[in-house]
Amino acid sequence: MLKNINRQFLIAARPDGLLKESDFDYVETSIPEPGDGQVLVQVQMVAVEPALRGTMVEDTNNPANLQIGDVMGALAAGEVVESNNPDVPIGTRVQGLFGFADYVVSHPKAFLFSVIPDGVPMEAALYIFDTSGLTAYLGMAHVGKPQPGENVLVSGAAGAVGSIAVQLAKQAGANVVGIAGSAEKCDWLVNDLGADGAINYKLGDIDAQITALMPGGIDVYFDNVGGEILNAALGQIRLGSRLAMCGRISEYENTGPAYEPSNSANIIKFCRHMERLMLFDHQDKFPAWREAMTTMIDDGSLQYRVDMLDGFENLPRGLIRLYTGENIGKQLISIT
Ligand SMILES: NC(=O)c1ccc[n+]([C@@H]2O[C@H](COP(=O)([O-])OP(=O)(O)OC[C@H]3O[C@@H](n4cnc5c(N)ncnc54)[C@H](OP(=O)(O)O)[C@@H]3O)[C@@H](O)[C@H]2O)c1
Repeated sequence: MLKNINRQFLIAARPDGLLKESDFDYVETSIPEPGDGQVLVQVQMVAVEPALRGTMVEDTNNPANLQIGDVMGALAAGEVVESNNPDVPIGTRVQGLFGFADYVVSHPKAFLFSVIPDGVPMEAALYIFDTSGLTAYLGMAHVGKPQPGENVLVSGAAGAVGSIAVQLAKQAGANVVGIAGSAEKCDWLVNDLGADGAINYKLGDIDAQITALMPGGIDVYFDNVGGEILNAALGQIRLGSRLAMCGRISEYENTGPAYEPSNSANIIKFCRHMERLMLFDHQDKFPAWREAMTTMIDDGSLQYRVDMLDGFENLPRGLIRLYTGENIGKQLISIT
């Protein structure tokens, strides 16, 4: 049943340093009417990821850049409740860039709009079969390509992308070490995901911890965080290594000069392949990758953990948790 208001969070301010709840404005508006060929979606679940902060800052080079007063953007999923399009009838479960809102008008041709296949849970559609899961697959299966016995290091390992990357490397028969920011996360990596070791970077001396767990050096480094952790990894890559450059969350809230890794000369000396993960350059492969991961989920060799927050009012908080490291696995917010 339709509610009579449409709750939304708008961008109230460009974030400066740490993202804050006051960077968002809560408003209540009327429910929009779908036009020709459009549908009205009632959003049920919102997915947040670290790159969203980048859409809120002034950046004319970012095509996803938002303005103050815009509805905060995010991938989300829900159900069609009004339809002017026979291809997407009422009751269809869909996902797209619906943002921080109860209701949104969309169109099947909108960027990232898709119908969620029958039998696929909404959280799996938003996580494992979308950006986070597919990026982990791209980075490990197509860039890192770990071989049995090789040393694979994953930073941000207990998060959405990292936890999948760790498991894919284990399946390839590698010696896998994850880096994360708490004892609880490190325990999960080793005891549940099968990592061979875990490093709590908040305990310091990351160099020594890497050396202890990977004495011969690193063959594959999957980087989610950049900064000092990237530099520590670069210090121990060995000849023929591969670097999957996924993200650099440690720098997203930095307002000072960008971190310059002092070990970057090792890239020229030792690295065979380094690639920035550009997921949408590989769209033709998504069906095959989704099928591969479905098989792994079905046979129990791949697990995915969702960190679900409840309540529309928690949407900004859910995004902020990524930068404070409160989430384990994929951060989603259920808003119904
Ligand atoms: N290339 C692409 O297409 C693509 C797609 C998706 C994501 N990404 C990138 O991949 C990375 C991971 O994204 P995700 O969605 O999987 O997020 P996530 O790992 O689920 O959540 C972010 C995690 O980053 C860690 N973190 C926060 N601040 C940190 C810091 N200063 N130093 C080290 N770790 C820090 C926190 O864990 P700890 O407790 O361990 O600190 C936090 O839980 C991000 O950099 C993101 O931008 C790229």
